[in-house]
Amino acid sequence: MNTVTFAFSGKGGVGKTSLSAAFIRLLCERFPNKRILAVDADPAVGLSTALSMEPPMTLDDVRLQIAQSIEKGETADAVALLGEAKFHLLDCVLERGNLSFLAIGRPEAAGCYCKVNAYLKQVLEMISGNFDFVVIDGEAGIEQINRRVMEQVDCLVLVSDSSKKGIQVIRTIEQVASRLVACRTAGVIFNRTRPGFDADALHDIPPVLSVIGDDALQAQCDMDGDSVFCLPEDSALLKGASRALETLLQRVHNETV
Ligand SMILES: Nc1ncnc2c1ncn2[C@@H]1O[C@H](COP(=O)(O)OP(=O)(O)OP(=O)(O)O)[C@@H](O)[C@H]1O
Ligand SMILES: [Mg+2]
Repeated sequence: MNTVTFAFSGKGGVGKTSLSAAFIRLLCERFPNKRILAVDADPAVGLSTALSMEPPMTLDDVRLQIAQSIEKGETADAVALLGEAKFHLLDCVLERGNLSFLAIGRPEAAGCYCKVNAYLKQVLEMISGNFDFVVIDGEAGIEQINRRVMEQVDCLVLVSDSSKKGIQVIRTIEQVASRLVACRTAGVIFNRTRPGFDADALHDIPPVLSVIGDDALQAQCDMDGDSVFCLPEDSALLKGASRALETLLQRVHNETV
């Protein structure tokens, strides 16, 4: 299957989760016969609320279960271990219509996310091929890019607000990603921009996919704790996400044919 993977990255709080959720909704609606995998790769957890989907287990729960059974000497060999991991993965994937959802979870233990990130990378390699589209809502900053959690990405979506810091972060991510990630195309979505912000005046950033201002409908949706599926179609966030998605699908399509 020719899977198309989108990964969202950027500074904290700029709208990665809201835009990932918007992409997921748009893909589900536009391609009802295609399979879509949504991945919450952020230990801070947010996509679950945005999609209103709560998987019974997270990847970290599975990782911990396996680690504990090894400690207790319960698991005979590596083959059995792998079989067990695959089996438990099914408990992590929650399905609704053509959408499947998987969350990395919140590793409580050692306070280090490396292990679960490494596990996520393997899981993505193992299951991505079963889906037409994969949308990954990444952790803020460059850690997951650095660790090559998202090694194979078709579309890297860099999200920024209009702040200097937000723009600096996407520049850094792009530089790191260009060395470490096999990425087919990258683009920027400016979100929650201030009036007077001029994206055209910026240089040394990947092409701008859309510019979205402050969206009162998204703010209301957020206040009510509603999912992205409740967001009115004419909201600035959905319309902006739609423009960006069109452009990226076009680019990937042109490259493929
Ligand atoms: N265009 C917009 N207009 C108004 N509010 C928005 C807009 N985009 C996102 N928000 C709100 O901004 C807040 C942060 O958005 P979101 O959680 O999507 O950011 P994030 O980049 O995923 O943050 P984090 O780095 O913490 O994961 C949320 O309350 C969200 O509803
Ligand atoms: Mg988020």
